[in-house]
Amino acid sequence: MSNNHSSLSHEKIETNNFLMIVLILIVLLFGGLVEIVPLFFQKSTTEPIKGVQPYTALQLAGRDIYTREGCYNCHSQMIRPFRAETLRYGHYSVAGESVYDHPFQWGSKRTGPDLARVGAKYSDEWHRIHLTNPRDVVPESNMPAYPWLAKNMVDADVMPAHMAGLRKVGVPYTDEQIAKSVEEVKGKTEQEAVIAYLQSLGLALK
Ligand code: HEC
Repeated sequence: MSNNHSSLSHEKIETNNFLMIVLILIVLLFGGLVEIVPLFFQKSTTEPIKGVQPYTALQLAGRDIYTREGCYNCHSQMIRPFRAETLRYGHYSVAGESVYDHPFQWGSKRTGPDLARVGAKYSDEWHRIHLTNPRDVVPESNMPAYPWLAKNMVDADVMPAHMAGLRKVGVPYTDEQIAKSVEEVKGKTEQEAVIAYLQSLGLALK
């Protein structure tokens, strides 16, 4: 046998649990790194596509309320590249649309429709009625009503720190945008903020 040496060592691996586990982990680690690491350096996943801007202070406040209220438990924001999806929702989602999203809202749970491109689909007035009582515009809807959003005021004072934090993780807010954020959202209701957020979704690739 010319290959005696290698078959012997292979036998050693296959009969040694510990060695086998360690080697499998190394293979998985390597495979994972090869898949994941390039994504951190590819333009298509790290650069915003044309038309994608950081959220305005009001949209950002609305986004926080969206996550606070758990809207993502029923709504994904990721259109998959399948015909049935693109016919219903529009262009499939691309990574460059959510580079300013921390955290992203992609999801897969769809008790309600995907919202990735809901911006400009309805009027603000439609959203006002829908958020206050969905059944008033969609009689068969089983979406919960969020009437308090129309009464609560946005917490304006947290905005500068929030935007400064987002800037640290790469959202290019200017000092001026941060300074003006309190003024921008002061006196707005949470409902106005959520609607501003919803109306901004997905416009870059309509
Ligand atoms: C329990 C599940 C559930 C939750 C939670 C939920 N929704 Fe919905 N949503 C639905 C369903 C079902 C529909 C479809 C019927 C309708 O239009 O009301 C819907 C529809 C919508 C639509 C219309 C989408 C379209 O393209 O027609 C918007 C906008 C929306 N929801 C926003 C929200 C927001 C904002 C929140 C959080 C404040 C939220 N939803 C929370 C279930 C939910």
